[in-house]
Amino acid sequence: SAHLTTKVIGRHICFYDSIGSTQKKALRLADEGAEHGTVVLTNEQTSGRGRLGHTWQSQRGTNIALSLILRPELPIDQTPQLTLLTAVAAAETIEKQAGLSCGIKWPNDLLFEGKKLVGILTELMAEATYVKAVVIGIGFNVNTTAFPDPIKSEAASFASLTGKQFALAPIVQQFFASFETLYQLYLSEGFKKIRPLWEKRALNLGKQIKVRQPGGRVLIGTALGINDDGVLRLKKTDGTIANVYSADVEWD
Ligand code: BTN
Repeated sequence: SAHLTTKVIGRHICFYDSIGSTQKKALRLADEGAEHGTVVLTNEQTSGRGRLGHTWQSQRGTNIALSLILRPELPIDQTPQLTLLTAVAAAETIEKQAGLSCGIKWPNDLLFEGKKLVGILTELMAEATYVKAVVIGIGFNVNTTAFPDPIKSEAASFASLTGKQFALAPIVQQFFASFETLYQLYLSEGFKKIRPLWEKRALNLGKQIKVRQPGGRVLIGTALGINDDGVLRLKKTDGTIANVYSADVEWD
């Protein structure tokens, strides 16, 4: 059995055998006042949500789907920092549990040889310019070897890459531990300590990329890096610089 080593993250776990979306549930619990560090975890997710209106498939018992409720004291503008921190925590988890060294495609797709292993969805509840709660949803493709969804032909799992099956609990535990350590560092030292950890794994910095923003607007340019808020800076073909908050990134 798995024992938690974390103090705050996962101290309260709402576990479901089957649920539509841990994210939807966590947003509701956050609204009802759930504590910082509360996690919604499920064996099976029947209508998982992805970024920018995509769906997220997660077959029964083979993958990890969880949502984490955070209550940071943070202006809204800085919430992208938490998404990047989460991506670093997930990358560390995969490295420690499966021995795979993932790159991060801004903002938060974890890729191994171009294939997606983890998806992260950050949603926030705000009051004026301050954050009331952030809900971070994360899906790890662990033991799946068939990817029925066409979007997922670009996907891989721990199993498809290593030929092994993995117990899910140690991965969840490792993710909580990595996340908690990074979050404490973030609280005590600020994003400046997290940023280099993210940049070390970043796949698209300095590259020509195409970003599709919510609403369909497409921008083309060179990814310069992220600013102190965790926002992508894109040098457009006309030489001007755009800040990109949320988008799908494509590049060759
Ligand atoms: C993406 O890459 O588009 C993000 C996918 C996020 C999936 C996770 S699985 C747990 C949580 N619950 C959901 O409904 N979605 C997120």
